[in-house]
Amino acid sequence: MGSAQIIQFTTDDALAAAAAEEWVSAIAKAHAEGRRHLVALSGGRVTRKFFAAAVARARERGVSFRDVEFFWADERCVPPDHPESNFLLASELLFKPAQIAAGAIHRIAGESDALMAAQLASEELLRIAEPKAGSFPVLDLVLLGLGEDGHVASLFPGDVRTASDTVSVFLAVKNSPKPPPQRVTLGHGPIAAAREVWVLASGKGKEAALHESLSTQGQTPLAQVIQLRANIKIFSDVNLASGL
Ligand code: 6PG
Repeated sequence: MGSAQIIQFTTDDALAAAAAEEWVSAIAKAHAEGRRHLVALSGGRVTRKFFAAAVARARERGVSFRDVEFFWADERCVPPDHPESNFLLASELLFKPAQIAAGAIHRIAGESDALMAAQLASEELLRIAEPKAGSFPVLDLVLLGLGEDGHVASLFPGDVRTASDTVSVFLAVKNSPKPPPQRVTLGHGPIAAAREVWVLASGKGKEAALHESLSTQGQTPLAQVIQLRANIKIFSDVNLASGL
């Protein structure tokens, strides 16, 4: 079913700038139409550049973040002031510089047990999101990074439980191969139900994962997301032409 639109860049800076520009435009459009913009953020290295570029462009264009509600595609089970926290990353590079109101930030309680944090995060997203697609909240945008193994959010290859879960909004992950081991991740349902999904595929060592994910026979978590959705946008600085 899926088809992915690949937008290719030569550097992570160019990728981050283009994705940020497009995100600021989406936020401005929502404001003009009197709509909220519900976004789920990811962690990762290129996300740092993306946040900084988004704050700069929004400021230059005079676009406010006041209609945006912030959620996460995944969070590590660490306290919010821990260096590994995806919340902390966003807080330092996006929320503080853009002076985002605390009420618009729907943090996943990483300090809690993964199961409890997943439950609380699901309740919060269901409380805020309207409309719903069946039992799933409809996010306007899910922002994902791509791991070297083809993971997105904290949906990892070989995790049969998360791959087959078609009912949960957020899921607990207990043995992530990417440290830290305990995480909370958005499930396939809300990712499939989102209006838009963008993947920021950046960095060395991701050629094989992206190549497989784009194959109709692909088995990576990103391949599953592509196959679940009619559309997905991949901002990439991965050199797919390299010898795989
Ligand atoms: C996380 C991220 C994860 C990340 C990818 C890509 O919490 O670890 O959400 O899904 O986006 O691993 O990370 P890099 O861009 O740093 O390679």
